Amino acid sequence: MNDRDEKGTRVYFDHNATTGARREVVEAMLPYFSRRFGNASSLHLFGQEARNAVERARSQVASLIGAEPGEIIFTSGGTESDNLAIRGVVAAKRTPARRPHVITSSIEHPAVIRTCRALEKEGVDVTFLPVNSLGAVSAEEVEAAVRPETLLISVMLANNETGVIQPSAAIAGVARRGGIAFHVDAVQGAGKIPVDAGAVGADLMSISAHKFYGPKGIGALYIRRGTGIEAVLTGGHQESGLRAGTENVPAIAGFGEACRISADRLGAEMAHIARLRDRIERGILAAIPDVGINGAGAERVPNTCNVTVRRVEGEALTLYLSVLGFALSSGSACATGETDPSHVLIAMGLDPVDAQGSIRISLGAENTDEEVDAFLDALPRVAARLREMSPIRGKC
Ligand SMILES: Cc1ncc(COP(=O)(O)O)c(C=O)c1O
Repeated sequence: MNDRDEKGTRVYFDHNATTGARREVVEAMLPYFSRRFGNASSLHLFGQEARNAVERARSQVASLIGAEPGEIIFTSGGTESDNLAIRGVVAAKRTPARRPHVITSSIEHPAVIRTCRALEKEGVDVTFLPVNSLGAVSAEEVEAAVRPETLLISVMLANNETGVIQPSAAIAGVARRGGIAFHVDAVQGAGKIPVDAGAVGADLMSISAHKFYGPKGIGALYIRRGTGIEAVLTGGHQESGLRAGTENVPAIAGFGEACRISADRLGAEMAHIARLRDRIERGILAAIPDVGINGAGAERVPNTCNVTVRRVEGEALTLYLSVLGFALSSGSACATGETDPSHVLIAMGLDPVDAQGSIRISLGAENTDEEVDAFLDALPRVAARLREMSPIRGKC
């Protein structure tokens, strides 16, 4: 949206990495940088203005996900929300008597996987569940992994690389029956599909503003009333004592506005985005031989398309397309700079060479049919050119 005037030269198809803040979001933030700069903890007028903005935003965030305002804790984003949920629940529930156990999946974002790996070094057993070839976790496998010592299950709502939606409600049932806390990383769900914390059945849910046209560096953790959790940061008493540190009032105000707009426009935007994504997938399958759409048979968020173009390197495709003005990613943005094939595609059973030949196209509300036309014109030519030069042969 912010690059509309440069359309044609800059096409942004990387909305799962981040999005630009909507105009209304920026406007909602501006007063809190200057005129209304108060600290939300101060008792005076300036503080009250800031506090009002924080509480209004808390209601807007809560309303987007069907929660109560008192169940929302502001954090610095998805990564911190995931850390607070996982570390905070383990800290609150572990006892010296037995070694705690956590269940998660092998396709989680590094904010979950690496947090669980760190906990393993602190005496926590972690089960990383596999996924099927469509990239979905099975609730039955979650159930089979439960032990008497299991105190947390953390499985994402929608995968950032494939868009595949996980069976959260069924997993929530397993968690409830076992008296186990259930955390859902909904960073790639919120703002893309309707998300209702109650329907998902989550005790804890992470969301992040910059994935749906809010500012970067602000997110929230939904904590269902009554869920046992301890703070991870030590410091002041902000956010009900669960997240120390002066609130980022401008970002919180922008986050609230992004949630309000998302709730208003989600239906229409989803339909537009889904139509464009389907056009892209049909176009790719028709124009390029030897390609596959990863997770295509599964329920997915409507904006994400993960394609394997065999005998081509995903990074080469991404760079070549970038020169032509198309921004998308190979693997997840967070893995940029790493040369390993995507852990998500490997978990789905892709051959490592094929996994490396994959790109992610993630669409947003401002994308147009003209941009899709231009992309469908460019991609087959780029793929053919790279295949001519490719050292990866003999797999066709
Ligand atoms: C599924 C998922 N979880 C967590 C994060 C981290 O969120 P943030 O960038 O707000 O820290 C991301 C970001 O890509 C994500 O896709």
